[in-house]
Amino acid sequence: MALTGLLTKAIGLGLVFLVSRYILAYLQSPLKNIPGPLLAKFSNIWRFANHYGQNHIETQRKLHEQHGDVVRLGPNTVSVADASLIKTIYNTRGTFLKSDYYSVNDALQDGHIIQNIFSTRSNEFHSRGVKPVQKLYSLQNALQIESIMNDDLRTLCSQLESRFINGGNKGKTCDIADWISYFAWDFLGDMTWSKRIGFMEQGKDVGDMLGTAERVMRYFSVIGQIPALDKLLGKNPKWPRSLYKFDDFSVAAGFSVERFMERMQNPSLGEGKKDFLNGFLEAKKEFPELVTDNEVIGYMIINVLGGADTLAIVIKGIFYHLLKSPAAKARMVSELRAAHLAFPAPYTAIEHLSYLDACIKEGLRMHPVVGHIFERIVPASGLTLPSGDVLPPGTIVGVNPWVIHYQERIFGKEPHVFRPERWLQGEEEGKLEYEARIKKMKDADMAFGGGNRICLGRPLALVEVYKVVATVFGRYDPEDPSKEWDLHKQWFVWPHDIKVKLRVPDNA
Ligand code: HEM
Repeated sequence: MALTGLLTKAIGLGLVFLVSRYILAYLQSPLKNIPGPLLAKFSNIWRFANHYGQNHIETQRKLHEQHGDVVRLGPNTVSVADASLIKTIYNTRGTFLKSDYYSVNDALQDGHIIQNIFSTRSNEFHSRGVKPVQKLYSLQNALQIESIMNDDLRTLCSQLESRFINGGNKGKTCDIADWISYFAWDFLGDMTWSKRIGFMEQGKDVGDMLGTAERVMRYFSVIGQIPALDKLLGKNPKWPRSLYKFDDFSVAAGFSVERFMERMQNPSLGEGKKDFLNGFLEAKKEFPELVTDNEVIGYMIINVLGGADTLAIVIKGIFYHLLKSPAAKARMVSELRAAHLAFPAPYTAIEHLSYLDACIKEGLRMHPVVGHIFERIVPASGLTLPSGDVLPPGTIVGVNPWVIHYQERIFGKEPHVFRPERWLQGEEEGKLEYEARIKKMKDADMAFGGGNRICLGRPLALVEVYKVVATVFGRYDPEDPSKEWDLHKQWFVWPHDIKVKLRVPDNA
């Protein structure tokens, strides 16, 4: 009896201690005047639950509508929706470092934590990693590998034609969302190692790589709200991995290692190839102090895991909005037809097509890949807000593209409507006025992140996006999906289930 009483008292005292700690932290917080949900001011559990429920995009939009440009998402986390702060937070010197959220993306190898160029919170590590390979991601190099893009586009079209257009399969419904993923993963494999993984040929998610990538990203999205949890789960060597693996990229990683070994054992496989593996091996020769075999394998994995789903999501977003906007689709298709494009569409023939360009920009605006705030840490100088208030050093701050891209004061009327015309000069709009409007929109464009950590693959990805959209819409007439797509909202906003009927128009 006495023992039970003692235990009850101990628990009671523990609870009082915990609650008073939270209350004290709340009262003493330098962020206490920043509006936001009450629970968010006490604990990160609120945002953990919000991301777990995949409600973060709608919630953050509502909070900004309700409270303005600065809202509190956690005891130490603030979301800002003021475009004038973007260049400060995401500056090219990288003074606002990535937060611990990104540590969840590190790998655990033989008990050691291994950072990569995406996950690292250190500018030194980042520069050392990027310097040897930066030139491979230039527009010039993207155009050098256009023949690889063309090969993969030919394979995509021949698969679509035999499975959904020709002979007995005529009129069969195609889930174009799946096929865009197959294409993107195969293309990333092809440009990295001159070998496709085989998604398109097999017409399925080989080795469950796509499913795994999405599951791992869900872990990143949710656990990243309380990164300390990752130390207990994914980064805990004692965690029984047979129960559940949190970083199960083993199939994609294994494929990279195999390709590397193959090239090492038989260098003639790489002769005359313009693939990234050759580029990484060159980088190893040029920067032996920075690039070892491990780095080469790491670069390959980042290429595929960083590039495939992002590319696929962007293309799916553009496809979906075009399919749902018949007038925009018709105008783009007539521009493509008038250009009499070769097959697959050559980049030099499409880069200046103004309506295609406007559709792609509008797709990237409406469906940016990342659905979270890009978390950064306020440096020692603090962050002065337009109101004059200062966010103290150490605060986690960020902009969510799904919030900023939908601001009427930046992107004009009806931001929820797919309207490529917003990127074109209006009939009654002067040149200077137009340029100023476009600059405002471009300055708020977060589709590829920003500052020193902006997407490395951006030039290459854009060339590929233009080519895929122009080739597929120039060749087929995909019919509007009858139902809404399915969006899985996590760190990435994954589109699923875009059912179309494909046909080759008579006048194509
Ligand atoms: C349209 C397709 C793509 C989109 C929308 C996209 C988007 C992004 C975004 C938003 C970031 C910044 C994330 C952050 O700050 O947390 C990023 C980083 C990165 N992306 Fe992409 N990406 C795309 C394609 C690619 C491709 C094809 C590659 C590689 C071949 C690639 C490689 C990378 C790398 C290495 C980083 C890390 C950069 C750094 O921290 O310095 N991306 N990407």
